[in-house]
Amino acid sequence: MSFNSKIKTIEWVNNSSRMIDQTLLPKEFKTVDITTAEGMYKAIKDMIVRGAPAIGIAGAHGVALAAIELSKTETDKENFLNKLSLKAEYIKSSRPTAVNLMWAIDKQVKLAKETQGSIDDITNALIENGIKLENEDIEINKKMGDYGAQVVPKGATILTHCNAGALATVGYGTALGVIRSAFAKDPSIKVFADETRPRQQGARLTTWELTRDGIPTTLITDGMCSYFMSKGMIDLVVVGADRIAANGDTANKIGTYTVAIAAKYHNVPFYIAAPLSTIDTSIKSGKEIPIEERNHEEVTHINGDWICAKDVNIINPGFDVTPNELITGIITEKGILKPDFKESIKNAFN
Ligand code: MRU
Repeated sequence: MSFNSKIKTIEWVNNSSRMIDQTLLPKEFKTVDITTAEGMYKAIKDMIVRGAPAIGIAGAHGVALAAIELSKTETDKENFLNKLSLKAEYIKSSRPTAVNLMWAIDKQVKLAKETQGSIDDITNALIENGIKLENEDIEINKKMGDYGAQVVPKGATILTHCNAGALATVGYGTALGVIRSAFAKDPSIKVFADETRPRQQGARLTTWELTRDGIPTTLITDGMCSYFMSKGMIDLVVVGADRIAANGDTANKIGTYTVAIAAKYHNVPFYIAAPLSTIDTSIKSGKEIPIEERNHEEVTHINGDWICAKDVNIINPGFDVTPNELITGIITEKGILKPDFKESIKNAFN
């Protein structure tokens, strides 16, 4: 059974947000139902749901959950909207780098303010919009897949980093969506998946979803990519993004920048696949992208065991920024944006 076409990573079900618990994969497949804004903050922070587009939908659901909760006690519309905005800001503070979270929550808050009628009318509008964004996410990913597949050479081996798949979206994926669409046209393509230290999204999630779809996948450790590029074994790199600045500089999972440098050195095309909702036109360059600093235990421990000296210094940024000059193209639902990215990004929004 194909993974992406049957299961949604996150879905609105019976006034709750049902999501695959990604902290348990690949050992266990389990869904959890989130019913409060506080529960959603924690689910995003603890990475039960992760990946930029998926946490965007989680944020949209979180605002709908906040509205359901508030509608039980609030009768004054202004108070309701003020409290809703506070809860929305709270959910936004769960993770700082992926702009889809802010994008989706801001959309919901704007909708709440603009909806005429009662508190119940606003709450229903937020629920419906959450479901609409959910469905649109899959359509957008399929469009990106179609565009992206056009740049995949016949029989190519594609390297990807982290997980920008069905699990990082509602379904189908961004970078892995490109791979799925390419594989549908040409079953001879293959994938190399970086394990992605320290949280192993490549090893735990990407290999899980690609092998379930029958796509030949080889797992490598993060330090191996330039070795395989030097052997001519990688034809193309496709990764996702958490935030893209107006000049094309792209934040993605830590280690992406290293892959991009290696790709440039070895003349391997390096593509980003991301929806327009990942592009933050309010910032000029990657220097303005906030980088999440994550728990040091992610580096010091593996499966609860210390793996280093106990008094060593630790630093654990979750993302890095790949400068635009290392990027061959940005695959979006509106086509593939090419350098000069300042121009092509501006045009994509017109
Ligand atoms: O920390 P994570 O697992 O949320 O990071 C995910 C990534 O970096 C993905 O590549 C990115 O969000 C794009 S997902 C389509």
